[in-house]
Amino acid sequence: MDIRQVANKNKYDLAASGYDVIAFLMSLGQAPRLYDEVAIKLDLPQGGTVVELGCGPASVVPSILKKYGESIEVIGIDFSSKMIDLANRKKAIHSWRNVRFECMDMYDFSPTEKVDSVVFCLALTAMPDYKRAIEKAVSILKPGGQLLIIDSIPLKSKWHHPISNAYIYLKSMVVGAKPDGAIVDFINERTAQVEEREMVLGVYTLIDARKR
Ligand SMILES: C[S@@+](CC[C@H](N)C(=O)[O-])C[C@H]1O[C@@H](n2cnc3c(N)ncnc32)[C@H](O)[C@@H]1O
Repeated sequence: MDIRQVANKNKYDLAASGYDVIAFLMSLGQAPRLYDEVAIKLDLPQGGTVVELGCGPASVVPSILKKYGESIEVIGIDFSSKMIDLANRKKAIHSWRNVRFECMDMYDFSPTEKVDSVVFCLALTAMPDYKRAIEKAVSILKPGGQLLIIDSIPLKSKWHHPISNAYIYLKSMVVGAKPDGAIVDFINERTAQVEEREMVLGVYTLIDARKR
């Protein structure tokens, strides 16, 4: 793990207990809606497996389970032990039997079989190197598997984007994220059938892509 990664991990350990409140406030109260939209877009076969990289305290898992129940497997990966403790607490409280969390650097995660979907939920721009993170996600997907990302990515096609971009950059200074408009170009280079949808007036973008 390089020095930026260690600093990142310590930051998330410190923020873990207040994370859900911080995410709610920073998303202008839209976090629950963002999590539901991820679950709506998730496209898993019966018995399929979704891996969430940078799962935090399992914030999106309830929305995924509301849609799929126990018909799928959910694996959450996070390198913050405090985040994983919170996620495991939720798992125990709600008796999630088809969900498991692993505390590790996502770059060390190697499933025995390739998976159907990989999700980055508000996590991609939290990582210092988005290209490396996307390459890792693609490497664990089956051919045709789904890469689903929701994050704050600066946009530039509509009149209001300078305003949403200003908020994205302000928020990134508070939470230490690295927003970069080139993320979408890179996903287009590395995957197929890319669909993008802006949400919350462009503060968030939902990207649905397939491994070639
Ligand atoms: C902004 S939080 C997102 C949490 C959650 N997915 C959500 O939807 O709210 C980003 C998470 O990514 C994790 N993370 C960042 N880099 C990571 C890495 N290299 N490996 C594993 N987890 C990582 C952090 O510990 C943090 O919990």
